[in-house]
Amino acid sequence: MNLIDAPSKTPINNDIYETLGDRWYTAHDDPVALLRKESATKVPWVLGKIDQYSPKAPLRVLDVGCGAGFLSNALAQNSPGGRKLEVHGLDISKDSLRVAAAHDPTASVQYVHGDAYKLPFPDRSFDVVTSMDFLEHVDDPELVIKEVSRVLKPEGLFFFHTFNRNWLAYIVIIKLVEWFVKNTPKHMHVLSLFIKPEELKDMCLRHSMRPRDLVGLRPRFSTITLKSLFTGVVPEGFAFTTTTSTRLSYLGVATKDDLEP
Ligand SMILES: C[S@@+](CC[C@H](N)C(=O)[O-])C[C@H]1O[C@@H](n2cnc3c(N)ncnc32)[C@H](O)[C@@H]1O
Repeated sequence: MNLIDAPSKTPINNDIYETLGDRWYTAHDDPVALLRKESATKVPWVLGKIDQYSPKAPLRVLDVGCGAGFLSNALAQNSPGGRKLEVHGLDISKDSLRVAAAHDPTASVQYVHGDAYKLPFPDRSFDVVTSMDFLEHVDDPELVIKEVSRVLKPEGLFFFHTFNRNWLAYIVIIKLVEWFVKNTPKHMHVLSLFIKPEELKDMCLRHSMRPRDLVGLRPRFSTITLKSLFTGVVPEGFAFTTTTSTRLSYLGVATKDDLEP
């Protein structure tokens, strides 16, 4: 086994999400600012695909590992194809859920404390399940995918965003962020938990979900300022873009098979 694929004994640091408080929405000197910037690119992509693939209305949506609700709150404010979305957000961090609810202008998202390994919902109860920047935060992503598939209705949509596992992703996603973004906690990401697109596709297929679209997501390098490299503050204009290369990270959607009874 090469170094990239070697398992690591370092546990991922998921405790940070319990301590961010309002900094989820306000901090610029913290990697959470990158997550907000990423969401700005992910939200329209997800809304566009919901519109394209899911003609039914209304839609029940579950955002797994929703954090402070960057996606859940945005989805609740939009009506793809004129349809209101009934959004649920689930996370293991109670404080993140508190912040998410406080930043939900619709006051309609149902935030639920729970573990993605054991989703507290019946089989086939959602039209759409999302997991953004989440699968690389658990030791057993396939167990999460199994649960996602269980709660999805036939022909339902599963959206995911995660990081690819290779040297470039290690340097850009882990090391450059540690070096150049202030307040980056230790082990916020662990290389061995990053997932190659082929591995994720196979996990989906093993659990009756057929990958449909996959795009890369990367920083728009021209939006990185020289000043930010010295201050450790994420620039106001910093942005992400979708791309054909999945080398760093990727955003995708899979459809649940409709073969089940
Ligand atoms: C990087 S954050 C992503 C948050 C959100 N999806 C976003 O894109 O802004 C990862 C989230 O996963 C949550 N998490 C970690 N393990 C979990 C588990 N087993 N079940 C549910 N949530 C979990 C953390 O509390 C954290 O909020």
